[in-house]
Amino acid sequence: MNLILMGLPGAGKGTQAEKIVEKYDIPHISTGDMFRLAIKEGTALGKEAKSYMDKGELVPDEVTIGIVRERLSKPDTEKGFLLDGFPRTIAQAEALENLLGDMDESIDYVLHIDVPKDKLVERLTGRRICPTCGATYHVVFNPPKEEGKCDHDGAELIQREDDQPETVRTRLEVNVEQAQPLLDFYREKGYLASFEGDKDINDVFNDIDKKLGELSE
Ligand code: AP5
Ligand code: MG
Repeated sequence: MNLILMGLPGAGKGTQAEKIVEKYDIPHISTGDMFRLAIKEGTALGKEAKSYMDKGELVPDEVTIGIVRERLSKPDTEKGFLLDGFPRTIAQAEALENLLGDMDESIDYVLHIDVPKDKLVERLTGRRICPTCGATYHVVFNPPKEEGKCDHDGAELIQREDDQPETVRTRLEVNVEQAQPLLDFYREKGYLASFEGDKDINDVFNDIDKKLGELSE
């Protein structure tokens, strides 16, 4: 099962990805998570990515395509994969087509989570994440059992650096501009499946899950 998750910042890609990879046992490949890990480890890639992410801008295509190429070459992608937050430009989408062609693979679905833009600022500024396991929460919409602590490992929850209101605004602008041409690209190829994302987290997952069930029919 080869899947892409698309949606504006805060649409719920990471939240749904956690559920999809648990049920379908495929690796979750999030370029944002890979960049954040590189920043934490202080690598050259991390330093370069940080200079763009802190401003809410996209990391250059050649850098991003490079890390995805390397990740897709790992053996665990033989059973499929879920790409989260990649591709984000037409150049990245075309590079992915070439990569998959070389691997004799293709995309099954591009799962697009559609949420009105005016809902996203609240989602992003209220988000909290676990620095240890990466689990995602929201202070109102998806709070942990004990305030400020991760349900899985009890770690103190933190805010993502790019969730400050000023950076959120830039991220939304940049991503809105890139989104439409990408949606058109995948609609024309017949891969696109859109989901109403402005409802309960479990209801969004049920809709996605129903669609994924069609692949095994
Ligand atoms: P990335 O980490 O991918 O961030 P993003 O696209 O901005 O998306 P988010 O992770 O913020 O949102 P999400 O859709 O995962 O939402 P979540 O599930 O957390 O990228 C970060 C940066 O890295 C980019 O800005 C760029 O600089 C760089 N980058 C990454 N990929 C790149 C690429 N391909 N090319 C170039 N640069 C790249 O949910 C958000 C909140 O809402 C949470 O609090 C959650 O609990 C809550 N929530 C989720 N679902 C619901 C629901 N149904 N109802 C109510 N609340 C909900
Ligand atoms: Mg995410």
